[in-house]
Amino acid sequence: MTATATLARTRDELADALARQDARARGERPHRRAVVMTMGALHDGHLSLVRLARELADTVVVTIFVNPLQFGPSEDLARYPRDLEGDLGRLSGAGLLGPADVVFAPTPDVVYPRDPVVRVRAGAVGDVLEGASRPGHLDGVLTVVLKLLHLTRPDVAVFGEKDAQQLAAIRAMVADLDVPVDVVGAPLVREGDGLAMSSRNAYLSADERERALALSRALRAGADAAGRGPEAVRAAARGVLEPAADVDYVALVDPTTFTEVAPDATGPALLLLAARVGATRLIDNTALVLGGAA
Ligand code: PAF
Repeated sequence: MTATATLARTRDELADALARQDARARGERPHRRAVVMTMGALHDGHLSLVRLARELADTVVVTIFVNPLQFGPSEDLARYPRDLEGDLGRLSGAGLLGPADVVFAPTPDVVYPRDPVVRVRAGAVGDVLEGASRPGHLDGVLTVVLKLLHLTRPDVAVFGEKDAQQLAAIRAMVADLDVPVDVVGAPLVREGDGLAMSSRNAYLSADERERALALSRALRAGADAAGRGPEAVRAAARGVLEPAADVDYVALVDPTTFTEVAPDATGPALLLLAARVGATRLIDNTALVLGGAA
């Protein structure tokens, strides 16, 4: 990795690497730094975020940190895939990072020198859907995102639209707390057969992976029913998903508030799914236009 980008494991190493970026930048105004935050186990979806960051900025910081604060007590923190060497190899193999770029891969004690007393609350958007199924999850996400924004001081931060509710909560935090960063959403990336890319796909057996395709099929069925209204969309998606997976939610929401749309709603909406296939919980979503073309 050192051949392509600087690896920083501590706050001091990160500060030194950023100071070097700042020094490089002095001759080339306007200079923009982008951050891409990840929990590692990088796949092509992550690489597409880095590619977008690369287009939007002069220097890029990729963070790799499995954030304990966003995992519930019964969730998969311990078994969440960790492979720093593999991640560094994937990043350098993709050729997306150069000598001026940084990979920040801290350990939990670097990010949380103490158990944080002050944390970010996601508010109403954090209490529904992902927030209802995973209480405190979005608070933990926002707390680490705010800390990583402070530590990396980016002009632009790129997040995937796959985690649509997370992206909405981050946008709300940045607006409400006047965080000086542009938040950019990057399109969800799918495998050739439609499965949304996710680090958790690694948990799926061959049979489960086949059943997991029901998520993207359910989204397509829902989108195809968009012209017939919200109830038809939900019913079509459930009809495909329920036989294959243990459904957590099928939601059709306003893209900003994440509240369910009214029965007679028309216009833009988000269809969101969460379901367990075997022991693995997967999420997926698509934007659609109710009463119009998908
Ligand atoms: O989307 C993720 O991978 C995580 O929630 C994030 C944004 C890196 C915060 O830990």
